[in-house]
Amino acid sequence: MTIEFQSFFPENAKELNTFLIEVRENYSPPFSDEKQETEIEDLLNRKERAVLVIENKKIIGFVAWKKDDENSDTGVITNEAVQKQQRNRGIGTKLFRIALQKLRSEGYKKVNYVCEDANEIVKHLSKKFDTRIKTEFLDDVRNGKGHKTLVFEKEL
Ligand SMILES: CC(C)(COP(=O)(O)OP(=O)(O)OC[C@H]1O[C@@H](n2cnc3c(N)ncnc32)[C@H](O)[C@@H]1OP(=O)(O)O)[C@@H](O)C(=O)NCCC(=O)NCCS
Repeated sequence: MTIEFQSFFPENAKELNTFLIEVRENYSPPFSDEKQETEIEDLLNRKERAVLVIENKKIIGFVAWKKDDENSDTGVITNEAVQKQQRNRGIGTKLFRIALQKLRSEGYKKVNYVCEDANEIVKHLSKKFDTRIKTEFLDDVRNGKGHKTLVFEKEL
């Protein structure tokens, strides 16, 4: 079955919400209800944009980005996920490449994104795309304990 990449439209919100519920436990830390609601709201009010991966008329992945709150020349990749059974087929790499192209075409000069130090796959993808670690901090959203979190940055 071929896969397609298409921009997010408001009519996709309900299905994207279902997709996020399916994948949320794969995140480290797991996605909260609040973060999920904000993500969908930001997409609906166009603060955030996204590309969806469709296979067999079903969402199997997505990547989302928006403008950085502090630096107008910087974009932020806010989220990227691929359905568990569909991983390691190159979809995440393609999504990352698409997000960089979109950010570049929207005029951003830099991109950043955050992930936990424990996320070996994102670290691997970051190396592949030559993205450097800008800073590190301890995030205590999970169990009140500090988890090493990385902020990646790349010139576009
Ligand atoms: C991150 C994610 C989107 C990647 O999607 P994907 O479709 O599997 O990505 P790809 O197939 O393009 O690439 C995966 C790469 O990770 C590598 N990989 C897989 N498991 C790995 C591991 N445990 N350690 C290091 N690298 C690993 C693969 O070999 C592949 O690299 P290669 O193309 O150089 O061979 C997917 O893992 C995901 O949805 N994770 C859960 C959500 C998440 O953590 N999102 C990021 C939030 S910051």
